[in-house]
Amino acid sequence: MQITVYFSPNHLDELELRDKIVVVIDVLRASTTITYAMRAGAREIIPVASVEQAMKIVGNLHSTSTILCGERGGKRIEGFQLGNSPFEYTPEAVKGKALILTTTNGAVALTKAKYARQCYVSSFVNLSATIEALATIEGIASEHLIILCSGREEEFSLEDATCAGMLITHLQSRFAPVASENGAPHDHLSDSARAALSISRQYGSDIYRTLIESDHGRNLIELGFEADILAASQIDSVPLVPVLEQTVIKKKLIFSDALQLQIEGRPPTRDPRKPERAATAIHAEKVS
Ligand code: MLT
Repeated sequence: MQITVYFSPNHLDELELRDKIVVVIDVLRASTTITYAMRAGAREIIPVASVEQAMKIVGNLHSTSTILCGERGGKRIEGFQLGNSPFEYTPEAVKGKALILTTTNGAVALTKAKYARQCYVSSFVNLSATIEALATIEGIASEHLIILCSGREEEFSLEDATCAGMLITHLQSRFAPVASENGAPHDHLSDSARAALSISRQYGSDIYRTLIESDHGRNLIELGFEADILAASQIDSVPLVPVLEQTVIKKKLIFSDALQLQIEGRPPTRDPRKPERAATAIHAEKVS
């Protein structure tokens, strides 16, 4: 597998992602929030780059089941129903609804991936599920994977780079050898991918601390969103992967029977003495 990491969508032409397999990361907070929203039963999420575009789309749809969501400067946009805190995306707020979502960085990164062959939305909350989702792609071990970090204000962000590096670590053990053995150069990894790996070795052992000490984390704390940071740091807490198809996220891959039942609103029926199958059962759900 060849892996390239972009640390920001800035200057990235959307055609560079054409027909590629892409994972978009925005740990704080768009990827985390989108994953929560899909768990809460959102029908679809349309990421858009600007507030104007979001208003235009919602105006054209004339639908009561479509809501405007997103942030600028971390705060809910005036006149929008929801901001960008994962905790706002409850079943009561989003179940069955189409969400038009505009955020400063994450939504912009997602719009760059509209020509991708396959695009998954990833963060710490669905790290292992992302690996499982990638494993469903035929011939993935010989593909070129692009990990697109959303970054912050068109620049690098430590939390996204750390998450990218952890994804690469998981990929290495799952699809070994991603990198060559015997200390030989990592000739399947771009310089940026190797840098992400090294960052995750430095900052990946205490994710919560990395997040609260990051530029974006400190800003979110000032705005009163410390709980969002804690939620975003919870590795594998939501075993579900939102899938972007062109301009819309409609489909989700679910990697837990218990989560599948929870989403369907059914009580778990499995024998509690048996451990749940970890990340092996895949339920792909597409609402159209
Ligand atoms: C973004 O896309 O820039 C973020 O998700 C910002 C935020 O924390 O709301």
